[in-house]
Amino acid sequence: MKLVFATNNQHKIKEISPLIQSSFQLLSLSDIGFSEEIPETQLTLEGNASQKSHFIFDKYTINCFADDTGLEIDALEGEPGVFSARYAGEGCSFQDNIDKVLFKMQGITNREARFRTVISLILDGTEYFFEGFVKGKILTEKHGNDGFGYDPIFMPVNFNISFAEMTLAQKNKISHRSMAMEKLIRFLNTLK
Ligand code: IMP
Repeated sequence: MKLVFATNNQHKIKEISPLIQSSFQLLSLSDIGFSEEIPETQLTLEGNASQKSHFIFDKYTINCFADDTGLEIDALEGEPGVFSARYAGEGCSFQDNIDKVLFKMQGITNREARFRTVISLILDGTEYFFEGFVKGKILTEKHGNDGFGYDPIFMPVNFNISFAEMTLAQKNKISHRSMAMEKLIRFLNTLK
């Protein structure tokens, strides 16, 4: 079955590809000739994921899914949350976002946080949602060079290294996106 992952983020395609079984042909947006930005104007992860999958389904009438992820920090009342990509402003870098989080977390002892991913799947016109999350702590400085986004300042529970110090395989075992993806894949497998 052809299935479009409605993302322009090559990091995600790279993370997810090994998890998808060969019975599904995972297509990227560039595979279907789409190279624009999909609007993401909603105020929740669910809303944004849904907006993105509907956008591609409406345009191409092809089964597709989209995800939206946020880093939710308890002491910042869930920030950066749905604004994780642009927390430090439009066009900001991963480093700008990390700097903003570290600045806001200065002197704060409650460093509990979680990454949360929501996936919206549209299959033959019906929408399904899947969620995954991983709890952890915000570090006081960057650790590690791998991964992307907030990985260098996020240490998942039961580990003493950051996401950016893990191999991709290690991160895939426990990550928010993997958990949501596993739920999606389990669901897809029940359809066969
Ligand atoms: P998106 O909705 O998946 O594009 O994620 C929004 C933002 O959250 C990204 O731009 C990253 O800054 C951050 N993010 C998402 N997933 C991860 C992850 O696995 N590690 C670190 N940061 C992430």
